Amino acid sequence: MTTNRRSFLRSVSLGAGALAAGTSSFAFEATDEQLANSARLEKKKQRFNMCGYAAPRLDVVRVGVIGLGMRGSDAVGRLSYIDGLEITALCDKYPDRVTAAQKILDKRGRPKAKEYSGEEGWKALCESNDVDLIYTPTPWYLHAPVCIYAMKNGKHAATEVNAGLSIDECWQLVETSENTKKHCMMLENCCYDFFELLTLNMARNGLFGELLHAEGAYIHDLSKDWLFNKKAYADMWRLKQNYLHNGNLYPTHGLGPIAQCLNINRGDKMDHLVSMSGNDFTLNNLAKEMAAGDSFFTEFVDKPYRGNMNTTIIRTNKGKTMMLQHDVSTIRPYSRIHLLSGTKGIAQKYPAPEKIAFGHKWISKEELDGLYEKYTPAIVKHIGDIAKEVGGHGGMDFIMDWRLIDCLRNGLPLDQDVYDAAAWSCILPLSGASVAKRSRTVDIPDFTRGAWQSNKPVNLTLDGGGTTGVRK
Ligand SMILES: NC(=O)c1ccc[n+]([C@@H]2O[C@H](COP(=O)([O-])OP(=O)(O)OC[C@H]3O[C@@H](n4cnc5c(N)ncnc54)[C@H](O)[C@@H]3O)[C@@H](O)[C@H]2O)c1
Repeated sequence: MTTNRRSFLRSVSLGAGALAAGTSSFAFEATDEQLANSARLEKKKQRFNMCGYAAPRLDVVRVGVIGLGMRGSDAVGRLSYIDGLEITALCDKYPDRVTAAQKILDKRGRPKAKEYSGEEGWKALCESNDVDLIYTPTPWYLHAPVCIYAMKNGKHAATEVNAGLSIDECWQLVETSENTKKHCMMLENCCYDFFELLTLNMARNGLFGELLHAEGAYIHDLSKDWLFNKKAYADMWRLKQNYLHNGNLYPTHGLGPIAQCLNINRGDKMDHLVSMSGNDFTLNNLAKEMAAGDSFFTEFVDKPYRGNMNTTIIRTNKGKTMMLQHDVSTIRPYSRIHLLSGTKGIAQKYPAPEKIAFGHKWISKEELDGLYEKYTPAIVKHIGDIAKEVGGHGGMDFIMDWRLIDCLRNGLPLDQDVYDAAAWSCILPLSGASVAKRSRTVDIPDFTRGAWQSNKPVNLTLDGGGTTGVRK
């Protein structure tokens, strides 16, 4: 084992430990040492290209779900609608959450799953023989450790966003996926939303001309109802993240869809970024307000909360620009922006309504309907209406789940590979590194080690698939 590998493993366990203990001594900003190590790793030859890789087909996909909180229990509900899928294992730190998820399976007429619990129960689940795919909606600091362990134990891995918190974790995901030939997909559900898929297909068909700039965001006021709600995130994990890191904590919802439109890792690549955060004007005030009424919140007073608004600007190798924003603690209507600007047109999703223009004025609702008619991609035509019925953020969650399982069952490459997971997630530690040094320029690693130049764009057809049914 190299020194770098050893220090990586130490940093993963230190990070998870510090977070579980709720201390504020561990931050995820990429250090100069990590950036130098990343540059060294980038120079190595790619061992195996997981972009476009099709794993042997699985008739029935046996799924183990790790993390059965708000997102995980919803996932159990959605997945149990899919044919050719069995949830064979359920795991949460807290056994009562496993019991609650069993009830969801029972309600859907699905067999009981094997149960795992405790802080390290997920390891036994990953080692078991009756699981093909690990699906992990755990807190952020467990995503990479779980996925790496799952792949090393012969399982495909699907993780909630972000896939990795540090640059080292992102590289470990890439190297483990290449070494094991197991998929590692980050479950970036926003790539499957209806306007995002429409505009991806339109971009592919040249309607915007050449794209030259794109914007994405995660602007969602989580502060009072979620971050400071004792009944929301387990052990207050998500609030703690907001003083352990300064930068863009949640880049992938905004970035994933625009990265697909710009063919990032598949024809172009993110080259470097600069990032700026302001101060915190809300979180510590809220902590004080909450602590005044309930001593439970006293430990959250005077923590080094991140700046409320972070803005990160990225330049690609082909000279395109992207702007990402993150703010989950200011009173604002929800927005992921989703703006695509090209030589012939522009699309913008937020603020509503969805807008497209090919000149000075936005087109009419009727013209937009016409574009939906013509450019809605095959996957939405096939499963969109059913997905709206099943639900999950208006249906996009179910489109994503169904497509993942359909690809595994038909031996198709996944829409999002480990390079996407690493590149989209690494904005978190890299934005932190830039913010920490007065918005200095930070290079973005090439996790594909040059393969981006020939990797094929995301497949927008259902060719070779579309065979997976959905239960009533
Ligand atoms: N893609 C989306 O739209 C979306 C939406 C919501 C949440 N998320 C993501 O889903 C993940 C989970 O978020 P959530 O809102 O469900 O949080 P949550 O706190 O409700 O759920 C996390 C669960 O993980 C469990 N857990 C913690 N440590 C564990 C361990 N060692 N072993 C097993 N289980 C453990 C907790 O007990 C809890 O039940 C996060 O990554 C979050 O960012 C994504």
